[in-house]
Amino acid sequence: MTQQITHSVQHGASTSSTAAQSFSDMIRSRHSVREFLSDPVPPEVIRGVLEDAQSAPSHSNTQPWLVHVASGATRDELSAEMVAAYDEQRFSPDFTDTYGDGPHQERARLHGAKMYGRLGIAREDREGRNEVVRDNLRFYGAPHVAMLFLPQLGDGVRAASDVGMYGQNFLLSLHARGYHGIPQAVHGMFADTVRKKLGVSDEFKLIFGIAFGTAKPDSQLFDLAIGRVPLSESVVLHDTTLD
Ligand SMILES: Cc1cc2nc3c(=O)[nH]c(=O)nc-3n(C[C@H](O)[C@H](O)[C@H](O)COP(=O)(O)O)c2cc1C
Repeated sequence: MTQQITHSVQHGASTSSTAAQSFSDMIRSRHSVREFLSDPVPPEVIRGVLEDAQSAPSHSNTQPWLVHVASGATRDELSAEMVAAYDEQRFSPDFTDTYGDGPHQERARLHGAKMYGRLGIAREDREGRNEVVRDNLRFYGAPHVAMLFLPQLGDGVRAASDVGMYGQNFLLSLHARGYHGIPQAVHGMFADTVRKKLGVSDEFKLIFGIAFGTAKPDSQLFDLAIGRVPLSESVVLHDTTLD
């Protein structure tokens, strides 16, 4: 397998169909996990994931990500402080969180309906929904969280897209190694709390965290299979040979 991948890197057009298929299978079988076992991920695995993530592309190779990984007591205290901030309504987001009122909002609504439906939590069940937010802030039980910051540069869009690439590398690397993760923008609602706990300067903005570990095998949400819109809703092909 290693030889096939090396070969495909050297000669793109002759990419082995086996390597391409297994790569597609790997990407498409990744999914977010919302219930983790408490077992820690071995340090050498975390280091390998961080090295893979570090290879992400970025604008002019600026690599604008700053990543803090919290485990053990730091993870527990961070989670407790975020839950306390939520209960006291101490929000400090660095970024807005809006989906407008078009198709993106509708997709978010469908996602929420599917997830809360699976959990049996009704729309009007405020405490049930609050508990889901707290669960997010407990990192869904994951033993580790990586908080992803970016420097305040211009409107932030370029650096944010670079950090998104980093995040996807991180998630795919976990998945390839048999571990699981979930990106969590909800952490960004408590940016000041997170910066204070981790000793991060105000110059760095919190975009999202990635909770990670080993999925709980019998989790209610493990096979949520949220799906995607068809390509025709996202891609315009200016090439008739691809129709
Ligand atoms: C940047 C980002 C932030 C996210 N924030 C949250 C979050 O705060 N809480 C949560 O439960 N899921 C969060 N998600 C997970 C998405 O809901 C999930 O990726 C999406 O529904 C697609 O499902 P999949 O990851 O299983 O393919 C986030 C995903 C991304 C990419």
